[in-house]
Amino acid sequence: MDEDAGSMQRVFNSGAGAIVTKSIGLKPRDGYANPTLVELEHGLLNAMGLPNPGIDLFIDELKKLKNSNISIIGSIFGSNVYEFVKLSEKMQQCKVDALELNMSCPHAKGYGLEIGSDPKLVKEITSKVKKSVEIPVFVKLSPNLTNIVEIAQSAETGNADAIVAINTLKAMKIDIELKMPVLSNKIGGYSGNAIKPIGIRCVYEISKNVDIPVIGVGGITTGEDAIEYFMAGASAIQIGSGIYYRGIDIFKTICDEIEIWMKKHRYNDLSAIIGVAHL
Ligand SMILES: Cc1cc2nc3c(=O)[nH]c(=O)nc-3n(C[C@H](O)[C@H](O)[C@H](O)COP(=O)(O)O)c2cc1C
Repeated sequence: MDEDAGSMQRVFNSGAGAIVTKSIGLKPRDGYANPTLVELEHGLLNAMGLPNPGIDLFIDELKKLKNSNISIIGSIFGSNVYEFVKLSEKMQQCKVDALELNMSCPHAKGYGLEIGSDPKLVKEITSKVKKSVEIPVFVKLSPNLTNIVEIAQSAETGNADAIVAINTLKAMKIDIELKMPVLSNKIGGYSGNAIKPIGIRCVYEISKNVDIPVIGVGGITTGEDAIEYFMAGASAIQIGSGIYYRGIDIFKTICDEIEIWMKKHRYNDLSAIIGVAHL
């Protein structure tokens, strides 16, 4: 979906508690040529290539929402400390409620995973961003790591306010008739239902080993998926591919399904189930 003020307002009106923007960089980027997104048997494979209008144009879009009551989490990506700090300051100026540092894109060379797999760099970027803004800073991590806990702890040491887990998994689809990869970028990121067990494992491991909140994302399409993430230790959840499968009403539907589950199991307070699966 194109992300403009109107689409963010529409998602918010359909029951989302907050909107995370597409990741925004310093300069406009076209992203990769088509095909950039393909539906597979159990999930979506994408390599968009971080297309975005660049922070200065995006700010104009955000300004249109200045009188609305939407909570916005500004997602940013950069290739070094300077870019992350600059973007954070600009995002803060347009009154976003929090920042999400995308250090986990699996398919954009020089960005994302190359940064998010280096514990020292994760700590340095997080800590420099924290010193330059007053709003909360979340760090979004990749599951394509040998040790996601170590990276989460680096973000925590850098004073992150929360960890977001997980971004997509590096994956590939080959068309056997054409004998070639389906995506123009060949390799992309896998999302949707198939990755939920991996997201659950990451959230479980991270939340057992850090003292800051963990926001769970990956394959959530039902209220029961959300409950599973809460039990794994997530304090909040995000929905991405679920919009493709269940439409824009998914936010309200999942809230209703969570409430039904809680009533059935005699819970009044969601916080009572956060991390209950930790032994
Ligand atoms: C088409 C598409 C575009 C995405 N773009 C971004 C992005 O710009 N920044 C980011 O941090 N994650 C991005 N993601 C990853 C999602 O935010 C999410 O972490 C991942 O898809 C797993 O959640 P899901 O299974 O609910 O989609 C994208 C995912 C998809 C499918």
